[in-house]
Amino acid sequence: MHKLKEILFKAAFESGKILKSYFEKEFEIESKDIISNLVTEVDKKSESKIIEIIKSEFPEHSILSEEIGALNSGDNAKWIIDPIDGTINYAHSIPLCCVSIGVEINRIIELGLVYNPLSGEKFFAEKNKGSFLNDKPIKVSKENNLHKSLLVTGFPYDTSGNPNKPVEVFAKFVNQDIPIRRLGSAALDLCWTACGRFDGFWEYNLNPWDTAAGYLILKEAGGKITNFQGNEYSVYEKEILGTNGLIHNDMLKVISDVRDEIPY
Ligand code: IPD
Ligand code: CA
Ligand code: CA
Repeated sequence: MHKLKEILFKAAFESGKILKSYFEKEFEIESKDIISNLVTEVDKKSESKIIEIIKSEFPEHSILSEEIGALNSGDNAKWIIDPIDGTINYAHSIPLCCVSIGVEINRIIELGLVYNPLSGEKFFAEKNKGSFLNDKPIKVSKENNLHKSLLVTGFPYDTSGNPNKPVEVFAKFVNQDIPIRRLGSAALDLCWTACGRFDGFWEYNLNPWDTAAGYLILKEAGGKITNFQGNEYSVYEKEILGTNGLIHNDMLKVISDVRDEIPY
């Protein structure tokens, strides 16, 4: 585990240097499947650097990374990488973005690191050993009243016809006068819930690279993470509800009520 950790930190810091060096500068931006889903030259450079560092030490390990996809799949150790989470923020010079890397061994996420090089905040967790923000232990909030909570969410790039009704669920919380933020980085949403800034986070249609590290960081900080049915969450599924545990059932109820109440 010691060597894995060393390479995890090295990969995140080296790619963080790339994010820092291009921030607020000019770089190439392309659209992916839909026009608002962007990939920049910096995502690709960050990803190449991370993969180069991992491969130099662990050439046999599997990799699942947002822009390049799956490499070497088959090995029991898998690095799940988002070279920039919050690309739209990054492309607009908004310093809310991060490098997110989770290390999965035998299908269990063992290590997670979310690093925002622009703020200098580094969130780290190791399974059964707690979560840390810049090396200080963090815990979820103690808020148990949904109506006093601060929530955060994100929306899929394509919301139309979405069976999970993301806009309607958002409206249901807002109409109860519950404050909600939308940061634009799911990994930071999870980490900011882990350190108690937010009390709960939900989103539909995320990918393993968005949540692998943040999932472990929230869990190790004492949070609860399920799908929208209330079952234990896996990074390979699309629905995520992550909270301090105390408002979990109340949030789950709002989300499931909307599904039942509002027909298409
Ligand atoms: C996105 C961010 C955003 C979430 C999107 C993700 P990207 O990741 O995490 O908060 O709402 O669904 O795709 O594209 O910036 O890596
Ligand atoms: Ca992402
Ligand atoms: Ca990304």
